[in-house]
Amino acid sequence: MIQKEYFDTYRGKDIFKYTLQGDITVSVLTLGARIYSIVVPDKSGKPVDVALNFTNAEDIIHKSAYMGATVGRFGNRIGDSRFTLNGKTYHLPHEEGKAHLHGGLCGFDQKVFDAELDGDGVRMHYISPDGEEGYPGTLDFSVKFTVVGSTLEIEYSAESDADTILNPTNHCYFNLNGEGDGSILDNILQINADCYLPTDQQLIPTGEIKSVANTPLDFRTPKAIGRDINADDADLKTGGGYDHNFCLNDRHAATAYSEKTGIVMECFTDRPGMQFYSGNFMTARKGKSLYGYRSGFCLETQLYPDCVNKPDFASPVLKQGEKFYSKTAYHFSLK
Ligand code: GLA
Repeated sequence: MIQKEYFDTYRGKDIFKYTLQGDITVSVLTLGARIYSIVVPDKSGKPVDVALNFTNAEDIIHKSAYMGATVGRFGNRIGDSRFTLNGKTYHLPHEEGKAHLHGGLCGFDQKVFDAELDGDGVRMHYISPDGEEGYPGTLDFSVKFTVVGSTLEIEYSAESDADTILNPTNHCYFNLNGEGDGSILDNILQINADCYLPTDQQLIPTGEIKSVANTPLDFRTPKAIGRDINADDADLKTGGGYDHNFCLNDRHAATAYSEKTGIVMECFTDRPGMQFYSGNFMTARKGKSLYGYRSGFCLETQLYPDCVNKPDFASPVLKQGEKFYSKTAYHFSLK
């Protein structure tokens, strides 16, 4: 069952909220093709919203730091804010002193998408004009959200009229204790990754693919996010906590769990990487609840950051006319 309702108006455009009901209830907004809420019954049967967000368009745009958003055209960072494709160098917008991040200064997270029902799901659609945020090619992009039982499926499709690059992801902030519960440091996380990518001070991968063994980034055995977060480790210090790409061993990327609610979330993806971000840049702000430092964590499935400038990493190049497709799913259960 899918319900549509008016949410807000942004820059003269109406924004709608679609609510998809299965064994979990997921609401998505046409502003940034964004997850607004994910309501899951806890171990006592009480509904718990495990996705953070803000309650109006202004706050979402100005305060939310990509909360729940579809991020594009390129998730995470591009070193020196430039890349070369077919012999031509493209310069990308960025904040001063920082690298190009999450598709630029006005990326997909700030666009109002069109939406239509598509089978059991809702498909959100956006045409990104040639040159938008510095990227070549007119990109016909869509993301489909479907709730199947207790699983939220996210499917990305795209096609460009010229060679370009593409690396979309979703930037949902989760707290499996409930979105208003405060710190995520007691959420338990397991990541199926033997390696991660160390970064430089601008959070650009150095190119090294490093084993997680004997580092605080070893999540192969489940542990509380907070257990090692303040460890004396150079890579953790650079990230201000966890803000790293994990090189996934297989499609079963990660499992997170809350002892408080019994809610388990498993992440499955066809992408080779996942940015685990522990909300290190979050500050006190009122959304659906009061949020603060490390009150949400993100599992952003994607190609490796800066892969466009690293020939050893899987390439984000999308050829003219080629059909892009990628899928990530978040499956909920109880323990
Ligand atoms: C990503 C980045 C972080 C930060 C957040 C948004 O996860 O890796 O460094 O920019 O998005 O605040």
